[in-house]
Amino acid sequence: TTEYEAKPRPPVVTIMGHVDHGKTSLLDYIRKTRVAAGEAGGITQHIGAYHVDTDHGTVTFLDTPGHQAFTQMRERGAKVTDIIILIVAADDGVMPQTKEAIKHAKAAGVPMVVAINKIDKQGADPDRVLSELSQHEVNTEAWGGDVPVVQISAKTGQGIDALLETLLLVAEVQELTAPVDAPATGNVIEASIEKGRGAVATVLVRSGTLRRGDLLLCGSEYGRVRAMFDETGRPVKEAGPSIPVAVLGLSAAPEAGDEVVVLNDERKAREIAELRREKQRDTRFAAQHVSK
Ligand code: GTP
Ligand code: NA
Ligand code: MG
Repeated sequence: TTEYEAKPRPPVVTIMGHVDHGKTSLLDYIRKTRVAAGEAGGITQHIGAYHVDTDHGTVTFLDTPGHQAFTQMRERGAKVTDIIILIVAADDGVMPQTKEAIKHAKAAGVPMVVAINKIDKQGADPDRVLSELSQHEVNTEAWGGDVPVVQISAKTGQGIDALLETLLLVAEVQELTAPVDAPATGNVIEASIEKGRGAVATVLVRSGTLRRGDLLLCGSEYGRVRAMFDETGRPVKEAGPSIPVAVLGLSAAPEAGDEVVVLNDERKAREIAELRREKQRDTRFAAQHVSK
C-alpha cells in the first residue's frame, strides 16, 4: 500500500439537542443565512452539512433534527463527527433528545461542548441547566469538570464567537489530520433523487481529495462524479478532507451513513454494488418472513 502524508484538517462538528432548542438557528447565525426560515415549519428533516471559514479557522457543521423519529440520523451524525455541540435552551433545560444526544456522544467517545442557548429570553436559567447536566453525568467546567460551556443566543449572536473559539481550541488538542493527495474516502450525509439531476448525494470527505470524474462506490450504488457543488450551490472541481459536497452521477440514491470509496476499476465497482444489493434483498426477504 502507498503511504500518503497526513496534513491538518478542519474539525467536523455536529450540533445536537432537543427539538426547537436552536440547532438550525445557531448554524444560520454562523452562516449569516436563513436556513430555518426556508424550512417548512422550521423543522429540520435531514442532516444539513456546511463548512464555514471563521476568524479562528475552518469548521464543518452537521445539523441534526431534534425530532424523536430521527434517532438513527443522530447516531450516524455522532459517528462522523470530531466534536458534538450539545445545545440546551436556557428556558427549557435538559429534555429527552438532550439526554439521547449525551448518550450518543458518550457511546461514540466524542468530546462535547455545551452551548446554553436562548440566553436572551426572559425565563433563561443557565444555572438550572448546569445542575441538570451534572445529574446526567455531563461534567461541565462550571461544575469542576472538563466539558466547556458557552452561553449563547442564536437570535442576538451573543457568545457565538466564543463558541467558535472554544470549538477550535478543542479541535487543536485533537490534532486532526488526514491525507490530502490520496483517493477520497468519506460518508454519505444525505441523498435524494432530484428532478432533472438524478441521484444527488451529500458526501462528507473524510480523507483524500474527491474529484470530478472519480469513480465512486457508495454502499450499494456506484457511478462517476459528473458534477459537484458546495453548500451554496457553486460548482466545484474537487473537495478535500472534512469538506461536504453534493455529488451528481450515481446510479441511484445511496443511504445516509454509507461509506464512500473511490475505485479505478468500473467492473469491480459494479460487482461490489450488485453483491451488496443482493445482500440487502436477502436481508429484507428474511425480515419479511420473520415478521409474518
Ligand atoms: P429542530 O430542528 O426542529 O429540532 O429545531 P432546532 O433545534 O433546529 O431549533 P430552531 O433553530 O428551529 O429554533 C426553534 C425556535 O427557537 C425558532 O422559533 C427560533 O427562532 C427560536 N430560537 C432559536 N434560538 C433562539 C435564541 O437564542 N433566542 C430566542 N429568543 N429564540 C431562539
Ligand atoms: Na425547529
Ligand atoms: Mg433544526
